[in-house]
Amino acid sequence: MVSEILSGWMKEAFVKALPDADISRVTVQEAANPAFGDYQCNEAMGIAKGLRKPPRDVAASVIAAAGAHPLVASLEIAGPGFINIRLKDDGLIESLEKMVCGERMGVPDDGAGQCVVIDYSSPNIAKPMHIGHIRSTIIGNALDRLYRRLGYRVIADNHIGDWGTQFGIIIMGYRHFADQEALQRAPVEELERIYVKSYEKTREDEAWMEQCRAELVKLQAGDPDNLALWEKFIELSLGEFDRVYRRLGVSFDLIRGESYYRDKLAGLLERLEHEGLAVESEGARVVMLEEEGLPLCIVRKRDGGFNYATSDIATVLSREDEFSPACIIYVTDERQQLHFKQVFSICRKLGCETPLMHVWFGLMRLPEGTFSTRQGNVIKLEALLDEAEARALKIVKESSPDMPEAQQREVARAVGLGAVKYADLSQNPQTMITFTWEKALALDGNSAPYLQYACARICSVREKYVQQFGEAGLQAAGIMITHPAERELVLQLLRYPDIVRRAALLYKPSVLADGLYAIAQKYSTFYQNVPFLKADSGVRESRIRLCAVTAQILQDGLALLGIETPERI
Ligand code: ARG
Repeated sequence: MVSEILSGWMKEAFVKALPDADISRVTVQEAANPAFGDYQCNEAMGIAKGLRKPPRDVAASVIAAAGAHPLVASLEIAGPGFINIRLKDDGLIESLEKMVCGERMGVPDDGAGQCVVIDYSSPNIAKPMHIGHIRSTIIGNALDRLYRRLGYRVIADNHIGDWGTQFGIIIMGYRHFADQEALQRAPVEELERIYVKSYEKTREDEAWMEQCRAELVKLQAGDPDNLALWEKFIELSLGEFDRVYRRLGVSFDLIRGESYYRDKLAGLLERLEHEGLAVESEGARVVMLEEEGLPLCIVRKRDGGFNYATSDIATVLSREDEFSPACIIYVTDERQQLHFKQVFSICRKLGCETPLMHVWFGLMRLPEGTFSTRQGNVIKLEALLDEAEARALKIVKESSPDMPEAQQREVARAVGLGAVKYADLSQNPQTMITFTWEKALALDGNSAPYLQYACARICSVREKYVQQFGEAGLQAAGIMITHPAERELVLQLLRYPDIVRRAALLYKPSVLADGLYAIAQKYSTFYQNVPFLKADSGVRESRIRLCAVTAQILQDGLALLGIETPERI
């Protein structure tokens, strides 16, 4: 990675020039303003302050100590003491070629030998996935891919809600109201229907409520009939969720769910009590979190049942034991912030040292009429995807009327799914976003179809070249920089590994989306400003080669976001 090579070099120069300085923060980053150079190092100022020396003098002594570097054309001091770095064109090209010939596309192997657990999607059994689960699935899966690229062993864990008080109600509902045919056809919908019906009955019929409780107790005590029913509900729900996951290209390493930890809850409560953390309060057991500035957290209800928090604490401890992860990442909507703050605080009190990270996202606003399939707050995800594909098909039919129908459908699938995913991923997760079809499917602007279209166009340039000149000239073609637009594109491409790493470390796939969009824009300037097929021989081949490298990086980046890139659109 160019930034890392230069950082190492600058660190050495700082040490040589100022043996006593603390160089731990010395890094080199992309230049904020391209007029001043390609990269810059800003630490001379901070270090000068510590040493009580004039910052420009410090910068000058560092530059003197740095000497020559094979990638670097010039070093300059600017303003109060910035060090601006301009690279040699040869150095840029060589670095780029090296970057794209590796499998990781230059992304460093930061995570080698380490594991992260990513807890995402996590819908509840017998309930449809709501918009929160959909965003969790899409954002979580992008983080999953990003961390794998950084070399981590990722445990993608779909922590489904499969244990809780609702099961007594569902069991009663199932025994009295289930429609077997509907259960086969649309299992989650039918399970939800019987749940709602049974739940409503609990409110007016005390005896019914009692029976629901009794069924729950039986289930928790391991009654074989109720366990079999519970397993059936899980199987039916997972079957339906799976269809969605397959369609979205999402897969998990584990689907353990809350129930996996159920036998650990009593022991955990004992430990909390033993360590003086859980205390009695109005019949319940609670952990006080005053010092943390948080409300108390109930870990056992008055009726003896355990809470969501208790289950999550047990889950952290178990994951810590089993995987010794470098981090556990949770992806849910913003409404669970307090829950995770409480859970993490209690884990700390229990001595857990694993970094725990809650990646929360804002809700997605759906303007009225966005989805014909919307009922209440629940969006039928499959219907949403169907609509995306149908709309994309219309676009593909217009743009490629001569494409065979089957291919049009295949392209529309990739474009429709890509549009939905990208509309989510390209936004800063921690904001509320508004989804509109116009924006998601726009062929110009920051959208998946725009980027997919850019890739397809780039591929077609190469095709046209081959038709006219054949393949032979491309074999040995190297990239040459003969125009400023080429240089800017190459620089932008070289930033790719940094961008991938930043997106992962900030838990923001939007950082990668922005980086890809920037590449597409630089490409577009390049494409509009220089001739390709009409250029002189040699330059022509170089430009086609640069196109190929651009397409390769865009495709790689979109794949990290879980988005496919058809060769034609
Ligand atoms: N099932 C939960 C819900 O639907 C989300 C679970 C998130 N993960 C966790 N470990 N709590 O709200």
